[in-house]
Amino acid sequence: MSEELWRCIDDYLAERFAPTDTALAAALEASSAAGLPSIQISATQGKFLMLLAQAIGARRILEIGTLGAYSTIWLARALPEGGRLVTLECEPRHAEVARRNLAGAGLGNLVELRLGEARDTLPQLESQPPFDFIFIDADKPSYPDYLTASLRLARPGTLIVADNVVREGGLIDAESRDANVLGVRRFLDLLAAEPRVRATVLQTVGSKRHDGFALAVVR
Ligand code: SAH
Ligand code: DHB
Ligand code: MG
Repeated sequence: MSEELWRCIDDYLAERFAPTDTALAAALEASSAAGLPSIQISATQGKFLMLLAQAIGARRILEIGTLGAYSTIWLARALPEGGRLVTLECEPRHAEVARRNLAGAGLGNLVELRLGEARDTLPQLESQPPFDFIFIDADKPSYPDYLTASLRLARPGTLIVADNVVREGGLIDAESRDANVLGVRRFLDLLAAEPRVRATVLQTVGSKRHDGFALAVVR
């Protein structure tokens, strides 16, 4: 009952605040046609991330976990002239669909997709200027490592956002042996104890059911 209500409200809000357009709709359709899992953020969440990036004036955005580039398109739209987004993806099939979707959205030149395990591609970014906004959304067991890597690629004021940290309450199951739950629990413990950030978690409901974003600002 409540899940159906959350979805209806999300649809109502998306129609008004995050209406779909040709590029977003084509990206979802191509992703689905290619058999990619439908686990991208919702439209209202995409708009939320876009507004966050815009509000902090992000010029350099890093995304860990591209899938079909649905979230990438939302984030890239927050960039000013001359901005740049680097997105990391390890599945060649996902990367191929994502590249096509980004080109279709007219973002091919703004976005650089790096194919490979994030644990290998992240250290290569240390020679670049720091990122202003980092979106963590790849494999959950590696979230603790992605936090460490993100801090190495950040500067004071960088905003780090991590998706899927509430997991319909899986978060508070101390007995869980689910590797995803263990990963986000460890990630949040590290984040809470990390003196280099100020952080919180925002629970969300909607078409992605009950989940949440961790938000951290580097001191
Ligand atoms: N951000 C996307 C959804 C990402 S789903 C959106 O909201 O639109 C998670 C993605 O991370 C998948 O495409 C998966 O292949 C990728 N991934 C998983 N483990 C990874 C790893 N170790 N390195 C890089 N990418 C990884
Ligand atoms: C799922 C959802 C996500 O947003 C994600 O990043 C990974 C997996 C899921 O619903 O399984
Ligand atoms: Mg996610």
